[in-house]
Amino acid sequence: MPCKVLIVYYTRTGNTAKVAQELATELGADVERVEEKRDKAGLMGAIRSGKNLFLNKLADIESPKKDPSQYDIVVIGTPILLNQMSLPIRAYITRFKHKFKSVAFFCVGGLGSKKAFKDMAYVCGKAPKATLGMSYLTYYSGQYKKRIAEFTKSILDGSGQP
Ligand SMILES: Cc1cc2nc3c(=O)[nH]c(=O)nc-3n(C[C@H](O)[C@H](O)[C@H](O)COP(=O)(O)O)c2cc1C
Repeated sequence: MPCKVLIVYYTRTGNTAKVAQELATELGADVERVEEKRDKAGLMGAIRSGKNLFLNKLADIESPKKDPSQYDIVVIGTPILLNQMSLPIRAYITRFKHKFKSVAFFCVGGLGSKKAFKDMAYVCGKAPKATLGMSYLTYYSGQYKKRIAEFTKSILDGSGQP
């Protein structure tokens, strides 16, 4: 039976969205974009995000359209902000982790991905089936397609390392 995959991501400036779309095409997955109730666009949005990250405040997110319990695996993507996962993704995981059968993580932002993945696994209460840290260097290098292919293979055949 084919593996049913849901890709859940948050993005501020669109980079994580690009990787999410690419993964969705490769995996034949459904996609859920996590949205904050308060707009985080522009300079003031970035300052507010930074302040909330510093204060570790849980974000107020819109209700998702997809039910994660209907999927074999939920692939969660986030930008790295101040060495952490984004607050909307923290809020999503906190609210819906009891519905995840299995998880994999990806992030966009080079520094802090290991720490963010560790934290995401802790909040989920589950080790990820696979992880993909995508820095700008990876994104614009020849490694990009290869890393995406390795990650999707790990998700589909279960050979990925946490
Ligand atoms: C307030 C703030 C803090 C950031 N902190 C980090 C960081 O710690 N490590 C990193 O690699 N990138 C950091 N970045 C860069 C973002 O991770 C990067 O721009 C990412 O691609 C944004 O993803 P998005 O386009 O999906 O929103 C930071 C950006 C902002 C605005």
